[in-house]
Amino acid sequence: MIRFTILKIDILTIFPEFFTEVFDFGIIRRAKLAGIVEINIYDIRSFTTDKHRMTDDRPFGGGDGMVLKAEPIFRAIEQILGTCEREKYADGTKVVLLTPQGRVFKQAMAKEFADETRHIVMICGRYEGVDERVNEMLVTDEFSIGDYVLSGGEPAAIVVTDAIVRLLPNALGSETSAVNDSFTENLLDCPHYTQPRDFRGMLVPDVLLSGNHAEIEKWRKQKALEKTQKIRPELLNKENG
Ligand code: ADE
Repeated sequence: MIRFTILKIDILTIFPEFFTEVFDFGIIRRAKLAGIVEINIYDIRSFTTDKHRMTDDRPFGGGDGMVLKAEPIFRAIEQILGTCEREKYADGTKVVLLTPQGRVFKQAMAKEFADETRHIVMICGRYEGVDERVNEMLVTDEFSIGDYVLSGGEPAAIVVTDAIVRLLPNALGSETSAVNDSFTENLLDCPHYTQPRDFRGMLVPDVLLSGNHAEIEKWRKQKALEKTQKIRPELLNKENG
């Protein structure tokens, strides 16, 4: 699908202040100003209707911690998407739940979202978890950003948003900037150098000063391979994604 509309990203969180200014720098700020992306933050608490405005409660069956309640999240999705039935979402709409239990988010998934979605609602998980009925009824994709446990999905929502937005057409300064990113071809990126040529006796490799673009490309590919072999050898033996 060729993107022809702005990408809308709505983030549901119990800590809206977490996102103050975080999307107001660099590529994301530019993309917002250029009308490539719109990012809205929603306070889950504002969708509660009870006297105490409770967003969480104790888990059925006992155990530590609190569980985010389904009700305000259903109400938020209903308001934002007009329905809380996954089958009725508009084409190109995704509802993402960020938890450590999700599929690990990869560059290929960022690319797919950048190319094919028009509206992403991200739900930031918290505490011991989120009432499973949210996952069963509302969520199209459950993502983790890695095999470690954060105190909530908020940092993950920032990571996923950044990875997607920078891949939107025209978001990067140069059309080709994302082509050589790490992971794009199951390879880590090659090393880079800038001025000065001699920094405290450490010299920039001659080939980069040679002006021979074929040789430079060869060197970069070789260094990318060496780095990947050393740091992430498993990338060389599998499909990305
Ligand atoms: N919430 C807590 N840990 C997380 C992780 N690793 N990825 C996404 N959301 C999370």
